[in-house]
Amino acid sequence: MTDADLTPLLNVRDHFPILSRISPSGQPLIYLDSAATALKPQCVIDAVSDMLANKTANIHRSVHFLSDEATEAYESTRDSVAILINAESNEIVFLRNTTEALNLLAFAYRDKGKILTSWAEHHSNLLPWGDTSVRLDVDELGHVKLDTLEQQLSQNDIALVALSQASNVTGNSINIKKIVELAHAYGVPVAIDAAQSAPHTRIDVDDLGCDFLAFSGHKLGAPTGVGVLFGKADLLEQMDLYLQGGSTIEEVTLEGYKEKNAPWKFEAGTPAIESVVGLNAAIRFLLNIGMENVHKHFSLLSRHTALEIANKLPADCVMGGLTENKLGPFSLIYKGISPHAIARGLSDRYGVCVRSGFHCAQPLHLQLNVPASLRLSFWIYDTPQAITKTVDGIAELAAVVNRLRTSVRQRAQ
Ligand code: ALA
Repeated sequence: MTDADLTPLLNVRDHFPILSRISPSGQPLIYLDSAATALKPQCVIDAVSDMLANKTANIHRSVHFLSDEATEAYESTRDSVAILINAESNEIVFLRNTTEALNLLAFAYRDKGKILTSWAEHHSNLLPWGDTSVRLDVDELGHVKLDTLEQQLSQNDIALVALSQASNVTGNSINIKKIVELAHAYGVPVAIDAAQSAPHTRIDVDDLGCDFLAFSGHKLGAPTGVGVLFGKADLLEQMDLYLQGGSTIEEVTLEGYKEKNAPWKFEAGTPAIESVVGLNAAIRFLLNIGMENVHKHFSLLSRHTALEIANKLPADCVMGGLTENKLGPFSLIYKGISPHAIARGLSDRYGVCVRSGFHCAQPLHLQLNVPASLRLSFWIYDTPQAITKTVDGIAELAAVVNRLRTSVRQRAQ
């Protein structure tokens, strides 16, 4: 891959001050843990700082100019999210993160029937649905067996289909439009966990046809503490409140109360105002780059990673295989070597940050008989050179461990 392929993302790195950090062992930072949380661009840091320094006030409450400005800054983020995913502003609910969005849905659909999900999901898209949910199986590579979806829809009392667009382990994605078409034929709404896909591709909820979609701001370069639930306006309006209290109601009398309309009725208490404002800056930053360019960069790095792995690491070490439909990370299994040991070595020796473990998706690891894996997840600031250095580092660390093991065995004989 040449630098020309990476235009116009070449200068993107200049916007991320943390990239000038040096690791404790003197290595320049390589950050391949963006599926856990993304690094923050300067414009987000500035927006949050300006809010704290110059515009601190609560929103939707007081009648003074600071509150006006804070409310305007908070509410204009709703418009930016609507532009990002092609929705209407009143279909955007701010919650803490994807997990809270899915828990809100679980609460709203608790008495309506079973939830159809899969064993490939993050815990956040499994646990909230409870024991009665129906989980689609995965094949030997960890791909969701969607061929049984129609059977489940026809045989079970399904109230909602809840699937992730891209796995946070294998990175493999599913065809949402096809699923929506099938589910809607049975009158069942569809909720998409887009926590992993939203940072890498243009999401158009109108085109996808999904009824709900959730993602976390911090994986798009925003601060932690704000996530988004998109819901079709009529469905949101019908949903019960998850939390009650200040700002969820129009009026409270001695006899009862009148709820606000959606989306505001779901945003109980004082929200994460600075984080929401930071999310606006992050979205504006991404829209300026263009989500099509973000996706192009992702695809180029994905192909480069696949080639490097195929050339330098053992065959079959990639969970989910080297497929073309990636919208998320690569997770590696290195037989006989703990992924935690490799992650530690990558950090301490090469300045590379990755994640090791089961990535909040233990059932998927159990189904594939893998205790834990090593996950590489990149974003707009990563480069082919960084991927190459990381893959070389993994190969070197594995070779060191294997050499040590052989010498211990020889000494024991
Ligand atoms: N859900 C995030 C991950 O997969 C934290 O790492």
